[in-house]
Amino acid sequence: MLTFSFLTLFPELLAPFAGEAIIGKARDRGLLDVKLVQLRDFADDKHMKVDDTPYGGGAGMVIRVDVAERALASLSPADEVILLTPAGQPFTQAVAEELAQKSHLAFLCGRYEGFDARTEGLVTRELSIGDFVMMGGEAAAACVLEAVARLLPGVIGDPDSHRADSFSSGLLDYPEYTRPPEWRGQSVPEVLRGGNHGAVALWRRRQALERTLARRPDLLSGAELTPQDSATLLELGVTAQQLQGWNAPPPPRPKRARRRKNIDANEQSE
Ligand SMILES: C[S@@+](CC[C@H](N)C(=O)[O-])C[C@H]1O[C@@H](n2cnc3c(N)ncnc32)[C@H](O)[C@@H]1O
Repeated sequence: MLTFSFLTLFPELLAPFAGEAIIGKARDRGLLDVKLVQLRDFADDKHMKVDDTPYGGGAGMVIRVDVAERALASLSPADEVILLTPAGQPFTQAVAEELAQKSHLAFLCGRYEGFDARTEGLVTRELSIGDFVMMGGEAAAACVLEAVARLLPGVIGDPDSHRADSFSSGLLDYPEYTRPPEWRGQSVPEVLRGGNHGAVALWRRRQALERTLARRPDLLSGAELTPQDSATLLELGVTAQQLQGWNAPPPPRPKRARRRKNIDANEQSE
C-alpha cells in the first residue's frame, strides 16, 4: 500500500482530495493512505511561527528549515521526500509511474516565498507541475496525488483504462464519444458504431498519431512508434527526415508486386 504524507500549513485544502471520490474509496478499501501533517505543529515558539523574513532583504516570508526537519522526522521513513517548487523537475506521467512503485511518499508544500533553500538537503527530489507560480504547494500536491493514485493496482476499475491514456504510450489519447450518436449536426464516426474491433483499434491509433502531430509534435521523439505508425505518419505529411529525427522505425516495405510472375506465365502460355 502506498502512503502519501502531505506536510502543509493548510491541510484542509488537501482534505477533500484525500477523502472524496475514487481516492476516498481507495483509502476506505485500504489501497492507499493519505496523512495530512500540519507544519505549524512543529514550530518551537508559543506563537507557532513557522516562517521568518529573508536574509538579504526582500518581500515575503520564508518557511524555516528546522520546522521542515522536525515535521519530516515525525513521519515513518519515506522512500521519497518531495519538495513542491516551480524550480523542480517537471512532473510527467513517467515520474508518476515511477512514484507509483514506492510505498511512502512525503511532500513538502510551500507557501509565501517557499522554504529556506537548505530544505533542498532534506529531500530526494523537487517537482514542479508547470511553468507558472501558484500561491502554495497544496494544489501541486493534489495533482501528484491524483496522477499517482490512479496508477495503483485496484484503484481504477479497469486496469487497462490508463494504458491508452495520454502520455502512457508517449502519445496523446484518441478522441472518445458516447450517446447521442448525432448532436447538433455532429455525428459519432461510423467506424466506432460498426462493432469491428480491429478497425476501431486502427482508427484510434491513427487519431492518436494525428492529434499528437497536430498538438504536441514534441512528444513524438519519445513515443513508442511501430513501423505501421511510421507509415501512418508519412501519410499524414511527415517527412522521412522527421521520422529519422524521432528515431521512428522504418515503415513496412510495400509488398512486392507479383506482376513479373504473371507476365512470365503469360509469356510461357503464348
Ligand atoms: C509563491 S510560491 C513560491 C515561489 C518562489 N518564490 C519561486 O519563484 O520559485 C509558494 C509555494 O507554492 C508552491 N508552488 C507554486 N508554484 C508551483 C509549481 N509550479 N509547481 C510546484 N509547486 C509550486 C511551492 O510549494 C512554493 O513553495
